[in-house]
Amino acid sequence: MNLTTSINSQIFGTVKCPGDKSISQRVLIIGALMNQEMTVDGFLHGEDPLSTMNALNQIGSGITVDENGLVYLCKRKYIFQSCDVPLDLGNSGTGLRLILGLTSGIGLNLSFCGDESLSSRPMSRVINPLTEMGASIKSSNGKLPISILPASLQKQYTYELPVASAQVKSSILLAALASGTSVEIIEPIQTRDHTERMIKNFGANLEITPKGSKNIIQLAPSNQLTAKNYTVVGDISSAAFLIVAALISQSPGLEIINVGINPSRTGVLLALQKMGADIEIRNQRIESGEPCADLKIKKSILRGVELSGDIIPNIIDEIPIISIAAAFAEGETIIRDAAELRVKESDRLKAISDGFTRLGVTHKNFKDGMSIMGSSNPLLIDQPISIESHEDHRIAMSFLIAGLKCSKPIIVKDCKNIFTSFPNFIELISSIGYKLEK
Ligand code: S3P
Repeated sequence: MNLTTSINSQIFGTVKCPGDKSISQRVLIIGALMNQEMTVDGFLHGEDPLSTMNALNQIGSGITVDENGLVYLCKRKYIFQSCDVPLDLGNSGTGLRLILGLTSGIGLNLSFCGDESLSSRPMSRVINPLTEMGASIKSSNGKLPISILPASLQKQYTYELPVASAQVKSSILLAALASGTSVEIIEPIQTRDHTERMIKNFGANLEITPKGSKNIIQLAPSNQLTAKNYTVVGDISSAAFLIVAALISQSPGLEIINVGINPSRTGVLLALQKMGADIEIRNQRIESGEPCADLKIKKSILRGVELSGDIIPNIIDEIPIISIAAAFAEGETIIRDAAELRVKESDRLKAISDGFTRLGVTHKNFKDGMSIMGSSNPLLIDQPISIESHEDHRIAMSFLIAGLKCSKPIIVKDCKNIFTSFPNFIELISSIGYKLEK
């Protein structure tokens, strides 16, 4: 599915932010493990959470959805069962890495597969610690296809994460939680802490001790957790596309309701504010242990900024759209320490650079980032330009937003993966003034 942008659009209005993808996936996995009745409201019905739901149902979770999108978890006689058919996690690194942790902890006989992008992504970062914990996992050189056999895990395990990854941290926590063992995880830099908050919210015995820029996370075997109905807050990573759309189109005002503002995810707001964005955070509240708020974006002039170091894991999913903001900000933006972007759904540094080259945005590539020379003027192009999305949802949405500042339409190719994280992107962005043609 290719999408074509329209010219001379301006963003304006009020929208509700779609549910958080990371939290939607976690609540299914942790909910299924608790094996009690509960409902999940605000769930993201995107392809990634849905492939996680299908995989969990294949091992006997019995998760259902009603006609209003409310998700139901039930109490079953047998918590989980092995299965002959491979669990297909589609495009979802989070789904695969977290379910590998869960099922290693339970001790099932399973195999896993996924799409072409997922099949090329590194899984040894979870296979290594899970194997050290005692799991029996076979892979194809650290990649899919992967299979696991029942095994029992060590009573106590300590692991220092070599990469700042919330997925790896969560995979280990889920393995320990499912097997009733203790773990201590040392993370070098704070990464998103949705797993920790969620299991604590359900009563897990978890302690987090900051030590300099590191965090020590200790999980002791917990009694049965207590399920409570859960409300998923909106996804700040999805809101980021709308925020940048409003900023670069010089919107007279955009309000985004229900955005998750967990401090381990709000680096994008800090980065954009540092660039000069006027973003007001209103009506702050807590939903199911996660902070959320409404955001009001006002007309602003952006300037270049330097982004590196500890903020990078916090903005890792937003760097593509921040790069688009940088292309339309006055002066130079430098992004460093972001080599992780090379092993996301695509090599995102290369994908951004390819798109910039097509559009004529001046930039330099580094191994771990890039520098972008921006201008607040519209990009004057004499004919429609097509841009490869590399079948990556965040690259597709980023360049569609860039189209707001182009003098001719741009065609972004292979956009179907937008449905993995932002299933109503086309309708939602059209409701605030930007039409995308199929
Ligand atoms: C995620 C963590 C991040 C992020 C991904 C979702 C999660 O990955 O890029 O989109 O839900 O835990 P890493 O933790 O591997 O960097």
